[in-house]
Amino acid sequence: MNQDEQKRAAAHAAIQHIPAGCIVGVGTGSTANYFIDALADIRSRIDGAIASSEATARRLSGHGIEVMDLNNVDELPLYVDGADEITSHLHMIKGGGGALTREKVVAAVAKKFICIADQSKLVDVLGKFPLPVEVIPMARGYVAREIIRLGGQPMLRQGFTTDNGNVILDVHGLQILNPIELETELNQITGIVTNGLFARRPADLLLLGSEGGVRTIVI
Ligand code: A5P
Repeated sequence: MNQDEQKRAAAHAAIQHIPAGCIVGVGTGSTANYFIDALADIRSRIDGAIASSEATARRLSGHGIEVMDLNNVDELPLYVDGADEITSHLHMIKGGGGALTREKVVAAVAKKFICIADQSKLVDVLGKFPLPVEVIPMARGYVAREIIRLGGQPMLRQGFTTDNGNVILDVHGLQILNPIELETELNQITGIVTNGLFARRPADLLLLGSEGGVRTIVI
């Protein structure tokens, strides 16, 4: 299977994990798009979806899947999303598509987080993929200086505004040996809305598309 086939296979495998009659949290990105397309085939078996971005909301609606407001939902049994990098501890870097804040909110509410990814996303150490950090525009300079102090090289994502009206700094040059510690440290910097480390709340299950089929990895 090539990379796209691996993404599609992982997305289809996630469909088997959806309890009947539930609301499903839906991620953002090319792998999540395969999941949305597969979800369309079983839309009568779910109550609706929570979208992690405007793009995902549009794609869900386009398939006739009801998009609900997270504030009107008491329980979210499942969230399915891709990742830019993931380790065998199921710690992730996310936000390549810039949707990290809403993704982190939906992941926080969900009882179970299933990550769907192709084989290239599985790494030993996080950080080769630049870490996305969503920042309030007026804090951009201050946050960049603080990140340099921590050893990273922040680069402003050019011409990009998040769904929340903020900017993204992509942080290069990090070798993230302790993702929980760095996620916590970045959370303390005033002006950062969210950082793309998903380690304090990791995935619960990884469905990894590989050349030989879909592997299931749990911690
Ligand atoms: C979106 O903001 C990201 O967190 C995506 O989940 C991540 O970039 C994975 O995207 P792909 O499935 O397109 O690789």
